[in-house]
Amino acid sequence: MEQGKIIDIHAHILPGIDDGARNLEESCHLLERAVSSGISGIIATPHDYVGLKPAVLRELAIEVEEKFRRQYPDFSLYLGQEILFHEEAPERLKAGELLTMADSRYVLVEFATDVSYGSLYRGIRRLVSAGYLPVLAHMERYGCLRKEEKLEDLEGSGCLFQMNYGSLQGGYLNRDVRWCRRQVLAGRIHYLGTDMHRMDYRPPEIGGALEWAKGHVNESLFREMTWENPSHILKTAQEK
Ligand SMILES: [Fe+2]
Repeated sequence: MEQGKIIDIHAHILPGIDDGARNLEESCHLLERAVSSGISGIIATPHDYVGLKPAVLRELAIEVEEKFRRQYPDFSLYLGQEILFHEEAPERLKAGELLTMADSRYVLVEFATDVSYGSLYRGIRRLVSAGYLPVLAHMERYGCLRKEEKLEDLEGSGCLFQMNYGSLQGGYLNRDVRWCRRQVLAGRIHYLGTDMHRMDYRPPEIGGALEWAKGHVNESLFREMTWENPSHILKTAQEK
């Protein structure tokens, strides 16, 4: 696998605003760890439910990027949000009160893990009808999607799937890991993301997933999930 060719689209890297990095120092530690694993760009995705205004998030992202670029001039930080779906989400996105990913039409969205398939489907359709491209965060968490026909149905409705790197690492005896690996091998996953939070809670550890991928996943599929599809989000943002 080519080093330095990964863009992470899911990261709680902005300091002191959600359950991610506690301060700027921790943001920098997370970023250093990420860069040493081959990640060269990140879309920061703080939780929307903490209620901070986009302008505040933008200032914070600039501060983190400026500090980090002194050490790693080639690194890029972009801004988005992880939006816990609610009925007003499409209108609030339109009004600029919530953020899409890097100012593109892509939206990182999550639901309660015990959401019913019907509610999940309707939420995704609401975003699609409003002109957005929903990326379902850590799709492996939803019990209602463990049936493959539901995954196909949801993808057909316009949903894209993000899986956490951490969900691919572990022993073969772990059923959840096996299920996640099957989805990757079947080409159902559009993006891999770290969902990094803190150095002691979900750090950007991707080595185990990369190791497994090296032996099992076709290189072009891996590049799509880690580089090409994320790059496409950034590219469409520039064209918008
Ligand atoms: Fe997250």
